[in-house]
Amino acid sequence: MKLAASVLAADFAHLARDVQRVEAMVDLLHLDVMDGHFVPNLTFGPPVANALRPHTRLPFAIHLMIERPVRYAPVFRVGAEDSITIHVEATDPVEKALRAIRALGCKAGISFRPGTPLERVFPFLDRVDLVLVMSVEPGFGGQAFLPEALERIRALRREIGSRPVEIAVDGGIGPANVRSVVEAGADVIVAGSAIFGKGDPAAAALELWTRAGRTKRS
Ligand code: DX5
Ligand code: ZN
Repeated sequence: MKLAASVLAADFAHLARDVQRVEAMVDLLHLDVMDGHFVPNLTFGPPVANALRPHTRLPFAIHLMIERPVRYAPVFRVGAEDSITIHVEATDPVEKALRAIRALGCKAGISFRPGTPLERVFPFLDRVDLVLVMSVEPGFGGQAFLPEALERIRALRREIGSRPVEIAVDGGIGPANVRSVVEAGADVIVAGSAIFGKGDPAAAALELWTRAGRTKRS
């Protein structure tokens, strides 16, 4: 298992400080980019992500909840360890967006809303490094986990077979359900409120590892 901390629940006035508090306890930093069109919320874009880059050695997992990934993906400063994930429901053609991401030299991912048929991502499994299963409706942190996601993770795992594609799961994951998500087949757990929403985010991340029955690989 890998653990990704979603900064959506961090203090945006002290992003670098909050990230450094959890750096030793997580594997990735999950960055939720929202454009106010694809989802009814606005967060931040490339200027904030790029400003944060020198302040942490954690790889960035950039989750684009935007209509136009072809236009904005190239503005993120990313390297081979970072990833950019687009939505299958975006306005831009998926193939074109994945090509634009690949051209940056980073990993490429695809995500889909809870109401979107899982089969919509199948045609892209040979062209992505990860699939991000949304276990809440994208747009906001702190929502309840949708239990249907567990069956989607299992079905996706079967379809991926031996392909080198990771399954990440995003939304509503906390100490009470992290184990069931990992046991269903998740490789990457994304957690916002369950980490940055707590008084001691590093201790909260450690609790997720413990409840998952896993230990962090260094
Ligand atoms: C929701 C975002 C998630 C969010 C998860 O649109 O994609 O990454 O930060 O937050 P929690 O863990 O609070 O559900
Ligand atoms: Zn996300």
